Amino acid sequence: MLNVLNKSIDESRQGEAYAPNTSSQNPVAKKFFIESYGCSMNFSDSEIIASILHTEGFGATKHEEEADLIFLNTCSIREKAELTVRKRLTEFKKLKRKNPSLLVGILGCMAERLKNKLLDEEKLVDLVVGPDAYRTLPNLIEEAEGGTKAVNVLLSRDETYAGISPVRLNSNGVSAFVSITRGCNNMCSFCVVPFTRGRERSRDVHSILDECRDLFENGYREVTLLGQNVDSYYFVDSATNHVTDFALLLKQVAEINPLLRVRFSTSHPKDITDSVLYTMRDYANICKYIHLPVQSGSSRLLQLMNRTYTREWYLSKIKRIKEIMPDCAISSDIIAGFCTEEEQDHLETLDVMKQSEYEFSYMFIYSERPGTLAAKRYEDNVDMDTKKRRLSEIVSMQNNLSYESNKKDVGKVFEVLIEGDSKRSNLQWMGRNSQNKVMIFDKTQDGKLKKGDYVNVVVNEFTQATLFCTIVN
Ligand code: 5AD
Ligand code: SF4
Repeated sequence: MLNVLNKSIDESRQGEAYAPNTSSQNPVAKKFFIESYGCSMNFSDSEIIASILHTEGFGATKHEEEADLIFLNTCSIREKAELTVRKRLTEFKKLKRKNPSLLVGILGCMAERLKNKLLDEEKLVDLVVGPDAYRTLPNLIEEAEGGTKAVNVLLSRDETYAGISPVRLNSNGVSAFVSITRGCNNMCSFCVVPFTRGRERSRDVHSILDECRDLFENGYREVTLLGQNVDSYYFVDSATNHVTDFALLLKQVAEINPLLRVRFSTSHPKDITDSVLYTMRDYANICKYIHLPVQSGSSRLLQLMNRTYTREWYLSKIKRIKEIMPDCAISSDIIAGFCTEEEQDHLETLDVMKQSEYEFSYMFIYSERPGTLAAKRYEDNVDMDTKKRRLSEIVSMQNNLSYESNKKDVGKVFEVLIEGDSKRSNLQWMGRNSQNKVMIFDKTQDGKLKKGDYVNVVVNEFTQATLFCTIVN
């Protein structure tokens, strides 16, 4: 499943708002404000939505108070994500009172999951639009402006939004997400995504390569190829019958330019192939970082989760990655307290974490999602206190692993891509190495370096989250 790479492919950027004020080009244009929740797929979708709205003459605003349209691009993966959106909606009531013509739309997975029910429950909502229906947004807005509540939650078998050139929101101008597949065919029993995002489909390879080339020409230096399960990317050119799998796609993106870094997320352990690993090894600009969610370290639970691998099989995959790329960083998603989880299962999860030496993990308490296989088949029978205690043990384990991993980097030299000023000081740069670790270092006096440049640094000090470095020549 898809999780974010910068702080991870998931909750890091939750609720992050908006982008460029293009409305200044047309002072009478209606203004929209969009806020994204959940995974990076949603952030990427918001950029597609912004592009569709721009083409229709709508302008973007960063300020919800001046918007004519407010969109929340929502996530259903855990109950908490949905509750956050519900809470956010109440904050718009005041704005609507001030401006009765303000339209509020719920987009994304919650729209898909709750459909018309959202309109009944949330009187404030005017539009409900699922993840495959964004092309119809202009018509739906027109309907809503006419006073009719507008809904389109039809899922599609082939919509990939190929041909839509995303408008970059909240961009640092250096790294961008590029969506390569949509939907998911894996039926992990805890997961609502196959129901909200539909069947898996791969986007036309030509449109992916065009988008990446275009980004590079516009100064971007890093692309993250996104999909719920990128390793199952499979595109057949209808004219030539030529097949592109994920390894070939990676190679083609990497060959755009050696200065363009390539990342990807998420990999399902069952699908990542040796051919992908060899391609990663062979191209210096394919980052040595894999997000390989384990979910649980217990084979019994993995079976209940329908993950289709055992603990031993997962560990052999980790071994294979390290054999082929000893410097490859690995991160994971872990769920605490899935149905029937016993203490022994939990201990096995901690043990898999330790053996895998994860650099990073996204860690969650199990939250039952209506309609999923687990909700239908298994009882959510681990009490909340136990879930919380197990989660905190998982978090402590990860904190130790991150600390130990960073400790090993002291004295080593890494190539860093500069993303911008460090949060603390504009006298320091922040960037990442290939392994996706955050590196902070002083700017040079001559002011020659800039965002998007590569520089070699040596690690002097560290915390569990950050490496502090100095530039080397
Ligand atoms: N409860 C808790 N975590 C979940 N995830 C997916 N569904 C659930 C759920 N019902 C987690 C998985 C997935 C990540 C994106 O979210 O770990 O990989
Ligand atoms: Fe990821 Fe499994 Fe959910 Fe698909 S079903 S999105 S692989 S967790």
